[in-house]
Amino acid sequence: MKRDGFGSKLGIIAAAAGSAVGLGNIYRFPCELGNNGGGAFLIVYLLIVLGLGVPVMLSEFVIGRRTQKNPVGAFRMLRPKSGWPIIGYLGVICGLIILAFYSTVAGWTLEYIVKAVGDQFSGKDLSVIEQEFSDFHNLGWKNVLWQVVFIFLTAFVVFKGVADGIEKYSKILMPLLVLILIVLAIRSITLPGGTDGLSFLFKPDFSKITGSVVISALGQAFFSLSMGMGVLITYGSYIKKEDNLLSSSVSVVLADTLVAVLAGLVIFPAAFSFGVQPTAGMGLVFNTLPMIFNQMSGGYFFCIIFFVLLAVAALTSTISLLEVIVAYLVEELHINRRWATVVAAVASAIVGVFASLSLKNGSAFSIGGNSFFNCLDFVSSNILLPIGAFFIVLFVGWIMGKSEFFAEVTNEGKLKMSIKGIVFFIIKFLAPVAIAIIFVTGLF
Ligand code: TRP
Repeated sequence: MKRDGFGSKLGIIAAAAGSAVGLGNIYRFPCELGNNGGGAFLIVYLLIVLGLGVPVMLSEFVIGRRTQKNPVGAFRMLRPKSGWPIIGYLGVICGLIILAFYSTVAGWTLEYIVKAVGDQFSGKDLSVIEQEFSDFHNLGWKNVLWQVVFIFLTAFVVFKGVADGIEKYSKILMPLLVLILIVLAIRSITLPGGTDGLSFLFKPDFSKITGSVVISALGQAFFSLSMGMGVLITYGSYIKKEDNLLSSSVSVVLADTLVAVLAGLVIFPAAFSFGVQPTAGMGLVFNTLPMIFNQMSGGYFFCIIFFVLLAVAALTSTISLLEVIVAYLVEELHINRRWATVVAAVASAIVGVFASLSLKNGSAFSIGGNSFFNCLDFVSSNILLPIGAFFIVLFVGWIMGKSEFFAEVTNEGKLKMSIKGIVFFIIKFLAPVAIAIIFVTGLF
């Protein structure tokens, strides 16, 4: 069967960065940072991203491009009749879980586009904006409606296939998002009291670093880079044989981290200026942003453009999640692409509805005092992704081995790469040990 492929070098970076950059950077990162001690979290996060991001991402790309398969098929091809395909199955399930709660928040971006177009924020006080956000949650059905619309949009793009679907959308709009974040960051920092937010971000209080901060940073790093569940194995399988996997991994990691830090620079100065608590979670982003636009000339237009771009960023991420499930169904269960897309979308929408409804006040969908939404988030990001990433680097380092790894990263010897030995050493020894230590100490 002929497989789809990305059209150009920029294409892979754009598509992988499209998967990586999303609500994870703009919505989840500030939430986690605010709840885990500010600057201390940022330092741990950056250490993890820079230390583990490239080796894990490269390992996924290598597995994917080597085998030209979905995560389950890839492990099955490399080690037939072994337990390794379980890592692939875990990834497919994890993709479904993430898609279920991610689409909740993705749906909100659509609601906020509508609000922005209707000029429904301007002149309002923070307390009113906060009230309207919580009323919107508590309505329930409206969340669900937007969520289903969002999953439908995702399915539509995935259905059309990789090259003219994913690639086309990522390439133009992501740089635009970076640009608008820079404008917003400048506005935010120059608000009265905005520099308090800078101190919160950049003056770490090391006494705040605890096991749960460290594991949250690990989960956030993997979540933000779309690592540990086979998205990058699947995308790796679409990358051309001539492309440089190592430099692509470095570019994607840097781009993703840039967007996260920019988001922090937008959110925290403004939050401190308006008096939104850094621990406000979802409200931190959805209430602070409209307030910033209220304080800008041209705020009306910036607000619309911003929420449109945020929705697109979320879409390129949900596409990658759905694509993993679809690639598995098509290649392993031999369901045609049309039906596979429908099945995967409906399954994630069904789980997703419960995630959305669990955010209502007093909702029955909670486990041990935590909303179903938070449970899905915690289990996938802080448990399944680290486990997946651990086994992926272990696989490349110990099972696939040096010669096959070198062959794939150097494009069968065509690329001269002096640091390949060091990179392999990190993948084989340092990365699995580091993930295991962070995971075990963080959890217990
Ligand atoms: N990385 C995306 C974000 O930051 C979300 C995402 C897409 C993801 N695909 C993933 C997270 C795979 C984990 C695994 O918004």
